[in-house]
Amino acid sequence: MTFSEAEKAAITSLWSKVSGHADDIGAEALERLFLSFPQTKTYFSHFDLSHGSADLRRHGGSVVKAIGNAAQHLGDIDHALSRLSDLHAQNLRVDPGNFRLLSHSIQVTLAAHFPKEFNATTHAAWDKFLAAVSSVLVSKYR
Ligand code: HEM
Repeated sequence: MTFSEAEKAAITSLWSKVSGHADDIGAEALERLFLSFPQTKTYFSHFDLSHGSADLRRHGGSVVKAIGNAAQHLGDIDHALSRLSDLHAQNLRVDPGNFRLLSHSIQVTLAAHFPKEFNATTHAAWDKFLAAVSSVLVSKYR
């Protein structure tokens, strides 16, 4: 997937705001995922899923930082997320449909925290970007 210069700017400029709050944003996105789509909790039965738990903050932070790594390698997301792609396909075997649900929860969280920055153009660019990240993470299923 390729990104226009305007899309790249929209992705990296919002990422620069998110990067200092990875644990908060990630924990909230996961909490929204589990509340809105409770079936996704089945993958996290070993986690404490209570509001603001250490598990939510640690894992949410990892997810958001992985997205940040992709945002910094927009020309080569495949390579940047190669190890995570192996993990999700070979070990975790998360149903691919769940990636859309997480992408949605992340975008709602971004819109809630950065209402000025998350205008229609940035929304569209992030939607495309998270679809690209998801597509890499499900690319090694067989
Ligand atoms: C683990 C990123 C989507 C389920 C991870 C890890 C990262 C990550 C960074 C930690 C890897 C490690 O410990 O080395 C992402 C990204 C996603 C995504 C960037 C999409 C934007 C999903 C979805 C699900 C899921 C949709 C299921 C609903 C899991 C599980 C683990 C994991 C169960 C292991 C957690 C643990 O036991 O600590 N993911 N993930 N992931 N992911 Fe994903």
